[in-house]
Amino acid sequence: MGSGKGFGKTILFGEHFVVYGYPSIASALGSYTTADVKIIEGSGWVVDDQRPETPGYKKEKFIEAQQSIKNVIEYLKIDTNSQKLKITFAGDLIAASGVGASAAQCTSLARALNDCFNLGLDNEGINEVAFIGETAYHGTPSGIDNTASTYGGLIWFVKNLSGGKNTMDLLKSPIKIPLIIANSGITASTNEVVTEVRRLKDENPEKFKNIFNEYESIAIKAKTALLEGNIKTVGNLMNQNHKLLQEITVSGEINDFLVNLALANGAFGAKVTGTGRGGLVIALTKNEKIQNKVANKIKKEGYDVWKTMIG
Ligand code: MEV
Repeated sequence: MGSGKGFGKTILFGEHFVVYGYPSIASALGSYTTADVKIIEGSGWVVDDQRPETPGYKKEKFIEAQQSIKNVIEYLKIDTNSQKLKITFAGDLIAASGVGASAAQCTSLARALNDCFNLGLDNEGINEVAFIGETAYHGTPSGIDNTASTYGGLIWFVKNLSGGKNTMDLLKSPIKIPLIIANSGITASTNEVVTEVRRLKDENPEKFKNIFNEYESIAIKAKTALLEGNIKTVGNLMNQNHKLLQEITVSGEINDFLVNLALANGAFGAKVTGTGRGGLVIALTKNEKIQNKVANKIKKEGYDVWKTMIG
């Protein structure tokens, strides 16, 4: 018997840009996925997926989830011929597009297998395994989701495009920052959206070069503003990041609706987070009073919304 957990995450800056080696900033969420592994009679493995979900998410991601579990088991060279694994996923993280649900699942499984079979993996090893699991969900993950899921906290992440070690720095803001996560209810395929963005980039290299340059300066300013606890500037930079996400076509109509609703009700900043084209939107507010106001307005429109503090 073994158990483990993986945090959900939210990307504050740099989804999609991170794939091309630009810096990104993500925060782990307090919510997580748990995995329990039991050895039972027989061979192979079975899964009981009890995670709460956005309607349709688990069905939509079923094949990718099965492949990611297979990736993790095989990478860890767990013998499933002379024993059978019963894997149970649960926890309070709602499985939805944009919340790092796939990474949290891979990380929790890596930790549970590590525990069950005394593999002696440290965080770096867990992160590596979770990354291999993630490749089933999107062929070329940047690694930001599994890194946030493994380490927790607020992180500055840069993918090493040469295949070497990625950069990961833990950031600490002097204040806790109120954040709202709004769920469009639409499950997007990360693989498809990342592939489509790559196609657009290849077709418009000059346009993307300018967007990437603009984004890079946003990310650097955002890091400083977070370290100083300057919420207003962080919000403003999130708005600028969202405009670039619109330009690379990953914000859909519902995303923009939720962003505008949050801004109209006092949020300092709001943007798509994660894959986009549905999925989630985040909004940052000055204090908990405005956080509640924005969250209530979004809820009134019929969307699920979660409140958290980051930093
Ligand atoms: C998905 O949560 C984030 C993307 O940037 C993909 C990745 O980083 O692998 C869209």
